[in-house]
Amino acid sequence: MISQLIYLSLRTPECTDDEIKKILDSAMRNNGKHNVTGVLLYSQTKFLQVLEGEEDEIVKLYESIKTDKRHRNVIMVSLKPIEERFFPSWQMGSKMINTETYDFLTKMNSKEQDEFRAILNGEKTGDPINVINKLFK
Ligand SMILES: Cc1cc2nc3c(=O)[nH]c(=O)nc-3n(C[C@H](O)[C@H](O)[C@H](O)COP(=O)(O)O)c2cc1C
Repeated sequence: MISQLIYLSLRTPECTDDEIKKILDSAMRNNGKHNVTGVLLYSQTKFLQVLEGEEDEIVKLYESIKTDKRHRNVIMVSLKPIEERFFPSWQMGSKMINTETYDFLTKMNSKEQDEFRAILNGEKTGDPINVINKLFK
């Protein structure tokens, strides 16, 4: 059974755009070996990452990612078994988002926008996966 882990964190000033590229390079290099897939959404100030794979593998990766100085205040939003991967073809898909204006959410209705905003603001531990999924359609 595959599990899915979602976390939020704050991007630190030392995490430049170049560092984002390095993070994605690491993910491309390592995740496939462990059969981990997912997405990394990032803005100037935040990260939201979805990791999918065997629970042991994604928890181990999460514990290691947590110690990375390019972010802080890492908070797990959810960890649960899933029937199938939402992002099977992404070793680590990524998208720059604007969490200040949320203009990336134009295709969503206002209820979805409110939900996603609340999740990104750490006000809610709902299930953001449907919202995230829409961003990658
Ligand atoms: C927000 C964030 C997300 C990350 N996601 C991954 C990931 O999915 N896979 C990964 O191997 N490293 C990820 N990293 C980087 C790891 O913390 C670590 O630097 C990397 O795994 C080291 O591997 P390398 O020596 O092969 O580059 C992430 C780091 C940050 C800050």
